[in-house]
Amino acid sequence: MTDAGPWVPARRVLPALAEAATACRGCELWQDATQVVFGAGPASARLLLVGEQPGDHEDVEGEPFVGPAGRVLEQALAAAGVTREQAYLTNAVKHFRFDQRGPRRIHKKPGVAHVTACHPWLVAELEAVRPAVVVALGATAGRAVLGRPVRVTAERGRVLDGPEAVGAVVLTTHPSALLRLRGRGGYDEAFAALVADLRTAAAAG
Ligand code: URA
Ligand code: SF4
Repeated sequence: MTDAGPWVPARRVLPALAEAATACRGCELWQDATQVVFGAGPASARLLLVGEQPGDHEDVEGEPFVGPAGRVLEQALAAAGVTREQAYLTNAVKHFRFDQRGPRRIHKKPGVAHVTACHPWLVAELEAVRPAVVVALGATAGRAVLGRPVRVTAERGRVLDGPEAVGAVVLTTHPSALLRLRGRGGYDEAFAALVADLRTAAAAG
């Protein structure tokens, strides 16, 4: 598999990056997805959040975190004193990967090869935004940002050294993991833990 490199413009300017990403053929995921879902938010953001990949809603709307996981994230950010508009939101992988089951499209975790293929876009976004702090939401984002396998339970909520162009990295759970707890025990605790990690990240910037 190739990677996104040949499609990434040298100039790290957000609108130009987003436009160029519409043509990306760096891996095969563009074929079945509706459209690329590039990151969104101000170039001046001090906080940049990285998810895994767009979901079904994001794929249709072309915007990151506009589905159920996005609503949980927005609530958690608000509880941590950050508005969605202040942050830059993106994903480790920019096209939706799924299994078609009849009329339903079932989320399928991106492979390490997809994360690697899409990495040049994430690097370009980090260089364009130069955030004080990056929040990696879940293990896929953590691997993409830190360049090594991570264990969320062991490493979450600490201020970790980031790569070049990034001051610090805070690893936390993915909001989709909270959705799976809804209506069962543990949601409130998991939400509070996510808010605490986002507070840590906001304070680190
Ligand atoms: N989950 C993600 O990781 N990213 C999105 O944009 C939406 C849901
Ligand atoms: Fe390019 Fe990333 Fe989409 Fe693959 S997932 S085609 S590398 S933008």
